[in-house]
Amino acid sequence: MNKILGQTILVTGGAGFIGSTLVRQLIADSTATVINVDKLTYAGNLQSLIEVANHPRYRFEHVDICDAVAINRLFHEYQPDAVMHLAAESHVDRSISGPATFIETNIVGTYTLLEAARVYWSGLAAPRKNVFRFHHISTDEVYGSLGDTGFFTEDTAYQPNSPYSASKAAADHLVRAWHHTYGLPVVTTNCSNNYGPYHFPEKLIPLVILNAVNKKPLPIYGKGDNIRDWLYVEDHARALRLVLERGQVGEVYNIGGWNEKTNLQVVQAICALLDELRPQDEPYASLITYVPDRPGHDRRYAIDASKIARELGWKPLETFDTGLRKTVQWYLANTAWVDAVISGEYQNWIEQNYSDRKIS
Ligand code: DAU
Repeated sequence: MNKILGQTILVTGGAGFIGSTLVRQLIADSTATVINVDKLTYAGNLQSLIEVANHPRYRFEHVDICDAVAINRLFHEYQPDAVMHLAAESHVDRSISGPATFIETNIVGTYTLLEAARVYWSGLAAPRKNVFRFHHISTDEVYGSLGDTGFFTEDTAYQPNSPYSASKAAADHLVRAWHHTYGLPVVTTNCSNNYGPYHFPEKLIPLVILNAVNKKPLPIYGKGDNIRDWLYVEDHARALRLVLERGQVGEVYNIGGWNEKTNLQVVQAICALLDELRPQDEPYASLITYVPDRPGHDRRYAIDASKIARELGWKPLETFDTGLRKTVQWYLANTAWVDAVISGEYQNWIEQNYSDRKIS
């Protein structure tokens, strides 16, 4: 096993939902120095990182991964031992109404980062050159959609269906090519649907929790019978750390929660938890509203996570019931974070607290 988690890790997208969870874990549970590289789009929120903001092993860099000059500067300045690449546009509905930023950040950004990493890594002397890793964090959506049976494995053919998943698939292929052609030591992970604290409320679970407590309709696309495989974000971050530390170069690892649910089941479970934790006159399920379906809506995702269990000994610690309860409780308790996100005020907060670190 290498000792990469004791060294310097450049995390892209560290102000996002999965990225901020990973950064908080790396600071709390490893000796790594974390350089958080984030463009701070609407989904990037430094208020998710308040508990690590002044930690001596944490640095924030307000940089766009498409900016080659700035990215090269970061490699030069921080001499990282690893890159964990999470920066991405991630919301499928936004990719349908405006695909351009997905092409830019997810494809051009990944290319820019790979090139900078390749040049930097080529100039390293052994043994640092042997230890260096480029960990690309991706999604199960690259595999397309499943029928009623079967699972996505690491060998499933790519069949992305949305502009979002096509852009992530393109990024995965670039990462693979940089390994195959140039020898860049990469590992790739493809995860299922994450959920948990600090999730931006455009995604199903936080949207439904917050709409419900505000007595707004709970929108269900189509009949609510599409299936997703839910992974608690802290479990995902634990898996990412393990893959970085012990994953084999050039390998792909699927990370899923073994938690298949229809969207309707998910929304009903949230409503039942709210009925218990914040009772009101009407059951929350009365807010469920069926709305027109997402164009090209993938029917079912389900990950076979047996490779990472077998080879690296990872399995999720949360069941859907325990993870969802923690999530609902977190949203009920963390009204300051929620209110700032809903009002958009968190972006002013970033401006006020990081005015000296304008995007380069
Ligand atoms: O599978 C991993 C992917 O999971 C990630 O790669 C994506 O970045 C992430 O956004 C997520 O994609 P989904 O499209 O599955 O997530 P979303 O939360 O948007 O939707 C989950 C399901 O709920 C999906 O079947 C669409 C449905 N849905 C979503 C919203 C926002 C609704 O029925 N109503 C809604 O209002």
